[in-house]
Amino acid sequence: MNYTTYQKTDIESIIELFHTTFANSEGEAEGKVLGAFAREMMETTPEQDLQVFVAKDGEKIVGSVMFSTLTLESDKTAKLLSPMAVSTEVQGKGIGQALINHALSILKSQGVDIAVTYGDPNFYSKVGFAQISEEVIKAPLPLSFPEGWLGQSLNGEGLEAISGESGCVPALNNPELW
Ligand SMILES: CC(C)(COP(=O)(O)OP(=O)(O)OC[C@H]1O[C@@H](n2cnc3c(N)ncnc32)[C@H](O)[C@@H]1OP(=O)(O)O)[C@@H](O)C(=O)NCCC(=O)NCCS
Repeated sequence: MNYTTYQKTDIESIIELFHTTFANSEGEAEGKVLGAFAREMMETTPEQDLQVFVAKDGEKIVGSVMFSTLTLESDKTAKLLSPMAVSTEVQGKGIGQALINHALSILKSQGVDIAVTYGDPNFYSKVGFAQISEEVIKAPLPLSFPEGWLGQSLNGEGLEAISGESGCVPALNNPELW
């Protein structure tokens, strides 16, 4: 398995991966929503605010995770993990964790201070995320599932509370995703 940064020629395969994976796990309607969301992330996010990582088995993309800028009222920098998918046929083999660990090591080397995500604590706790309160980092939109607001420090320091609002990229600025 090869863990790498996407290329523009991968975009349609990545959209198809999100569509199919979520259609399999949560039904066709959710598959369409996630396919459209993945497309919007890649088409509308300014280049400096989006990093897309893929797991490739030969030429086939079997996993993808996106990190976008979360703006803070602080000199600390943060990236938000969303969305993520590993192809149904190869789930449960460690690919998702390896892909996130690859991405986090690159973000660390770029000097990013904090990673956050909004998802299943049971999965994301395996790659260093822990539940955080909004007193530590305010979510950019109201959370329907506050237990899913997760973060980790990437700079070797503890996660200190950061006061003020946070802001996400336009594709994530949709209350239905939160
Ligand atoms: C969640 C997902 C990205 C994990 O990737 P993966 O390659 O299957 O995960 P890994 O093999 O690295 O890790 C497996 C571990 O994660 C957990 N896990 C796997 N799939 C999970 C899921 N759908 N939800 C919660 N936890 C899950 C398992 O407990 C497993 O732990 P174990 O091996 O100790 O039993 C992948 O299963 C997926 O794309 N699922 C459907 C879409 C989705 O839910 N995306 C994430 C939105 S938050």
